[in-house]
Formats: sequence, structure tokens, C-alpha cells
Amino acid sequence: MTPPRLLLVDDDPGVLTQLKWALSEYELSLATDRASALDAVRRWQPPVVTLDLGLPPDPANASEGLLALSEILRAAPSTKVIVVTGNDDREVAIRAVALGAYDFYEKPVDPDVLRLIIARAQRLAALESENQQLIAAQRNACTGLIAASASMLEVCRRIERLAPTSATVLLQGESGTGKEVLARAIHEQSPRHAQAFVAINCAAIPEQLLESELFGYERGAFTGAVRQTRGKLEYADGGTLFLDEMGDLPLSLQAKLLRFMQERVIERVGGREEIAVDTRVICATHKDLRTLMAERLFREDLYYRVSELSIAIPPLRARPGDAILIARALLSRFRELYGAQVRDFSPSALAAIEAHDWPGNVRELENRVKRAVIMADHLVIEAADLELELPVANGFRTLREVRDEAEAGAIQLALAASHGQIGKAADVLGVSRPTVYHLIKKYGLH
Ligand SMILES: Nc1ncnc2c1ncn2[C@@H]1O[C@H](COP(=O)(O)OP(=O)(O)OP(=O)(O)O)[C@@H](O)[C@H]1O
Ligand SMILES: [Mg+2]
Repeated sequence: MTPPRLLLVDDDPGVLTQLKWALSEYELSLATDRASALDAVRRWQPPVVTLDLGLPPDPANASEGLLALSEILRAAPSTKVIVVTGNDDREVAIRAVALGAYDFYEKPVDPDVLRLIIARAQRLAALESENQQLIAAQRNACTGLIAASASMLEVCRRIERLAPTSATVLLQGESGTGKEVLARAIHEQSPRHAQAFVAINCAAIPEQLLESELFGYERGAFTGAVRQTRGKLEYADGGTLFLDEMGDLPLSLQAKLLRFMQERVIERVGGREEIAVDTRVICATHKDLRTLMAERLFREDLYYRVSELSIAIPPLRARPGDAILIARALLSRFRELYGAQVRDFSPSALAAIEAHDWPGNVRELENRVKRAVIMADHLVIEAADLELELPVANGFRTLREVRDEAEAGAIQLALAASHGQIGKAADVLGVSRPTVYHLIKKYGLH
């Protein structure tokens, strides 16, 4: 971990040198006047600053220091500024606190006491910044998406980053993992959100129809084409086209889509005119495009074009804790929708939810909870209402079991990575060789 940053402002080089030695656990920056202090705050953003109020050109008074204080707080309001005042300068100290200083300290400096004050300020700054991050996470990019697992939060973070661009995105995930929810989240977070989000499912539409659905057609292009019609790509001009199940896109249309992606123009069926279209494309598939590519069912050039930014959505079984969280949210949603009585899940139902494999992912969870809410004639939903198996024992694994399993897994991985060399594995794992020997024996690994 990088040490926390700390800016020391004092016009006395002797004091700075003394503090430098006493505060070696921090990454320090030093400043001797108001201008350099402010510069350091702007560039370096230290969470905590100690500020001597007697600065040049007015070292005998606090005017320059108080000015520096206000400027620092204006530039970076969450900075914790500890002001250091001369002896018997209580009044100035109080003025400084009124201006927003975090705390004050009287000279001569006792490094031990100052260290305590600084450590407290650092802790507060860290807590505040963590808090900000949590708030930001709740307001996360993925509107409509419930997630607490690390793997899904990482997906949300990536989505947040790529949403504002116009880049093509490929969402890969099993059926029911939330591909469409995420595609919408990307659109909502993009500058295109006021324009159309148009979805088309390549697997649901026959090949001949799909072409005119995507690209539109001119009047007379085929029997029944009685008037010129825009396709979905054109419809989504300025907005986003969600191309669902793109693994099912026929080869002929893959070529046409690739052309659009490279040149950003389309031709309607039966038309000759090139029409410039500004549509962002988000593709989704539950199939493995690489396999399709190997079977020559998917064009390689298109694959590389769409997979520049690809996001693998983890299946529900690989998102610890999410199933219960989502189940609870769905329960209250369906309860309202159907005016049902049910209040909650029983502990064993929760255990069954966490233990189930969820081959149909969130969609399956949605169906099971909906059915249970409608059918249950009691207040608490049991595993049987969800038609789920009760897991063995109480269903929850003890922390010890979870840790042991994780530990054994990590050791196996490290041993495999270091070709069975205990010393190397110990290095990778950050423990001693005897510890590795001990654990190999404990878990019966070879
Ligand atoms: N994290 C989540 N939180 C809440 N609801 C979710 C979440 N993920 C998915 N859902 C809901 O689950 C259902 C399936 O999601 P979605 O349609 O986005 O999945 P999909 O991957 O496109 O599935 P399919 O392959 O079946 O089309 C939707 O009703 C969606 O609202
Ligand atoms: Mg879908």
C-alpha cells in the first residue's frame, strides 16, 4: 500500500527537517510559503496539511497563514488542515477553526503529539473518501441492476468508464445474466441517452426479414415493399442499437454490418444511396464467438471489430451474495405488483437460493420468486415454494469451511504456477516455506 500523503507548510527549515524525521510513515511534500503550499495542494491533493500560520512576508502574524488556509480549502474543500500557531495564539487558532481548519496545534512542535493529530486527520480523510466512493457506487452506472458481488461491481465500473464513448461494446454472458439491462445502462449513461435505444434480436427474425429490419428498404425492393422504410440502424441514429444474440447473425449480414461499423454508412435493401448513420452498436451473445469463428460461422474481421471492448458478465452462481439480494428486491416488487401478503424468505429458503446453481440466472430467479409470491398462502416463502432443494445441513457454510477451501485452492494454484517448487510457491503466497509444507499436509495436497 502506498503511504498516505501529507503536506507540511512551515517557513522554518529547521522545523521541517525535524518533522520530516518524525513523520517518516507518510509520503511528504514540503512548502515554505502560501503560493507553494497552494500549488502543492492543487497538484498533489494531499488529504492532510499541517500549516504554520506565520508565513512570509508576515511571519510574525497570522494573516498570510489564514489566507493560505482559506485558499487551500477553496481549492480542495475536503482537505484536513491542521494549523500550527505560535504560543498563546488561541484567538488565532479559533479563527482558523472557524474558517474550516480541522484542528490546531501550538508551537513548539512536539512531534509525538502532532503525529497523533495527523493520524486522526488521515483516518477521517480516508473514511470520508471511502464514504464518497460508496455513495458513488450506489449511484452506480447500472441503473436497474442490483449487485453487491465484487465481480459484478467490477462490471459496473467498466460500464461506467466505457459508457460515455461511442465505442462498440460486446456483452457476453449466459442467458438471463442481464445483458439487456447492462446494454440499457450503457445507453442511459451515454450522451446519447435522450435519443432512441432500439433493440433487435437476431435469433428471433428470419434471415431475409432481418436484413430489411436492420437496414431498411426502398419502395419496390421486394414484393410487399409498398413504401420506403427505415431500418433499426437508421432508426437509432444519434442513439444506440442493441444487437441481441449477434452470434445468430447470418454471414451475409455480418459483412453488411461490418461495412457499417467501418464506414458508418448503410444502404437500404433495394437502394443505391449511401446513408450516413451515427448509431452506437452494443452487441450481446450467450454463444462463444470464438468457437463460431473457428467453425467459420462468424467472420473474423467482425469479431475483432466488435470485441475491442468486450465485457464478460459472470453467471449468477459466480456472484456470491447477489442471488439473495436480487431475490429480496424481486420479492418486494412482486408483492406490490400482485398485492400479495408474503413478507420474507425463511432462512432455509435463503440458504437454498444461495446454494442453487441458477442455470437460468436472474431470469430463472425472477420466475421462481414470482411464482412463489403468487402461489404461497403463508407469510414466509419456503424453499419448497421456490421449488428449490434444501441444501445439506443448514445450507450456509461456516467461515472456516469457506476459508479452508479458498486457502487450499490458492495453494494448489501457486504450486501449479511454480511447477511444484515449494520455495517459489511460498514467495507467490507471501508465506514461509514451512507454512506451505504445513498447509500441503493439512489439506492433503500434492
Ligand atoms: N442484477 C440484476 N438486478 C435486477 N434484475 C436483473 C439483474 N440482472 C437481470 N435482471 C432481470 O433479469 C431478467 C433477465 O435480464 P436480461 O433480459 O437483461 O438478461 P439477458 O442476459 O439479456 O438474458 P437472455 O439471454 O435471456 O436474453 C430481466 O427481467 C432483468 O430485468
Ligand atoms: Mg436478452
